[in-house]
Amino acid sequence: MLFEQQIRSQFPILGREVASRPMVYFDNAATSQRPECVLALQDEICRRHNANIHRAVHTLSYEATDLYEKGRAAAQKFVNAASADEIVLTAGTTAAINLVAQCMARGGFIGKGDGILLTEAEHHSNIVPWQMVCEQYGAHLEVIPVDAGRDSANTGAVDMEAYRAALRRGVKMVSIAHVSNILGAVNPLREMVAEAHALGIPVLIDGAQGIVHRKVDVQELGCDFYTFSGHKIYAPTGIGVLYGKREWLEKLPPYMGGGDMVGKVTFEKTTYADIPLKFEAGTANFVAGACLAPALEFASQMAADPAAQAHEKALMAAMDAALASVEGVFVAAKEAAERIPLYSFTIEGVHPLDAATLLDKMGFELRSGHMCAEPIVDRIGGGSMLRASLMPYSTVAEVEAFADALQRVVKMLR
Ligand SMILES: Cc1ncc(COP(=O)(O)O)c(C=O)c1O
Repeated sequence: MLFEQQIRSQFPILGREVASRPMVYFDNAATSQRPECVLALQDEICRRHNANIHRAVHTLSYEATDLYEKGRAAAQKFVNAASADEIVLTAGTTAAINLVAQCMARGGFIGKGDGILLTEAEHHSNIVPWQMVCEQYGAHLEVIPVDAGRDSANTGAVDMEAYRAALRRGVKMVSIAHVSNILGAVNPLREMVAEAHALGIPVLIDGAQGIVHRKVDVQELGCDFYTFSGHKIYAPTGIGVLYGKREWLEKLPPYMGGGDMVGKVTFEKTTYADIPLKFEAGTANFVAGACLAPALEFASQMAADPAAQAHEKALMAAMDAALASVEGVFVAAKEAAERIPLYSFTIEGVHPLDAATLLDKMGFELRSGHMCAEPIVDRIGGGSMLRASLMPYSTVAEVEAFADALQRVVKMLR
């Protein structure tokens, strides 16, 4: 209880009402809320340090640059990258995956006839950029199934036999989620990276959901790229982190051209800046970038706090009980060996969009629809599901109230 009160007091938005009821925010996998420390820095930069970074010699520009680079350093520390040069700040996970996909192809590392391995549970951000590369360069996708749905074990586990077979067929790139935004199951990254690397295949990990609930050490993991979005882990929107191994970032060509990513520009030839700025064309979102520092510090404190860990266990037990208490509920990857507090589900005889609309009228903010992962939601959820995703500031009482709300929704809609 004390933990819940302490953490909630740091998130002003949690005090608001929706439909004249206390708001229950269960759409954290789409975007998380921001604590006071992040809001304060955001406000302070706009009021006191707002100036373009990396360019001018005046005081404000130095201050803004310093704050932005502190954000990069915080991201380096958070994923334990060997150097801040290996941290490219992007607009988000989507921007980062587009960057890697395009640069791998332009650099000649993916081309005609080459396979790109994905699982069937990827977010559109980890499907469409690779599909574009396939269309542009004649490569193709190799999509690995997962055990999920009513007709399989419903563990959310990647079919490792199919994974190994695709690796042996000689794909040129593996791009997989740490945790799918539909299934919530944690993928066995160490094993997957080691097996790809044994065959010399690079691996990108889409950590948009995984990093929010799991410690990530990119050196220990050995992955070639790891990416996540700031707004899902307490920071503002418009900033993302792309970790890339130095050897890859140095050999890849730049992505976008423009200011800040250059060495010398003439009409005959342009030379490029060193990494990571080679990949950061144009004015960066320096306000959001700077806010990575307090946001990731906040996340680190959560991760290290035994009270937060106990709280997460209690939340998950309460959500398991809440969903089990409603007849006809199917939970994606219910039997996952290891999961994060993210639950996609359907209710027999109730359309997810109707349920989400009614739940909103009761103060519950939940995601519904295909949730940017149409292929897997089409297969296991008939094209539309509901999703409740929790953060450390969620409470057991909210989850218990959610169980009651679901019962009422079912009575009204079935
Ligand atoms: C697994 C996964 N990958 C990628 C993304 C895309 O993130 P963004 O929209 O912040 O770029 C999301 C967002 O929901 C996600 O859940």
